[in-house]
Amino acid sequence: MEKMPYRPELENIRFVQPPVEHAVSSDWREGLPVLTSHHVTMRELRASDAPSLFALLTAEEVSRFISPPPSTVEGFERFIAWTQRQRRAGSYACFAVTLDGSDTAIGIFQLRELEPGFGTAEWGFAIGSPYWGSGAFQEAGELMLDFAFETVGVHRLEARAAVRNGRGNGALRKMGAVQEGRLRKSFLKNGEYLDQMLWTILDEDRKAKKIWESEGGTIH
Ligand SMILES: CC(C)(COP(=O)(O)OP(=O)(O)OC[C@H]1O[C@@H](n2cnc3c(N)ncnc32)[C@H](O)[C@@H]1OP(=O)(O)O)[C@@H](O)C(=O)NCCC(=O)NCCS
Repeated sequence: MEKMPYRPELENIRFVQPPVEHAVSSDWREGLPVLTSHHVTMRELRASDAPSLFALLTAEEVSRFISPPPSTVEGFERFIAWTQRQRRAGSYACFAVTLDGSDTAIGIFQLRELEPGFGTAEWGFAIGSPYWGSGAFQEAGELMLDFAFETVGVHRLEARAAVRNGRGNGALRKMGAVQEGRLRKSFLKNGEYLDQMLWTILDEDRKAKKIWESEGGTIH
């Protein structure tokens, strides 16, 4: 999530209400698919998600180690419009996370290309703190990894987490990410440069994990 590309200060377009998209296209650039698991549904962000995302993602415990989220509901509306433009351009995708029986967005998962063609990409995520430890992150993360590797065709997926961000690093580890190294003083937060850990998942890691799980393997 750190250093994901949206920057509100670069945003000066007028917000236009996008049409609600019900159709699922086979090309994710034309509209994100709806991804479902046991208790979690992931879908394209909508302008109406702005109030819940503002309330949940601007909380201090959520934003402590990530790029500053928009500071108003209107800022989130502009962010959501921006995510849709970037998705249409084919360089970025952002999903809302919703839970069983509710359409309220409780968090987001972002995916952006790091090179043309999406061979190498970066992902980031944030979930409202009332839902931490609930299993929602892991279910949503599995859906996002399938989307990245199987739908988008990512070969190498990177994530950066501030070393001090225990939950963020723990979350990446449990998704099967491998720690590749420490990026010294790579993330400016509140006037201080923080070290980050670089985590990666390769498409071959993901395939091997799936085969292992289908043969009855479990992670303890
Ligand atoms: C990152 C985030 C989406 C993860 O969701 P979550 O529901 O908290 O994640 P989970 O509880 O499923 O997994 C976190 C894991 O880290 C572990 N953990 C918690 N604190 C930890 C710490 N200080 N050090 C190491 N591991 C820690 C948890 O025990 C858990 O592992 P377990 O399920 O095996 O016990 C959520 O915490 C969040 O939104 N954080 C704020 C935004 C953010 O930091 N985003 C990530 C940037 S890389």
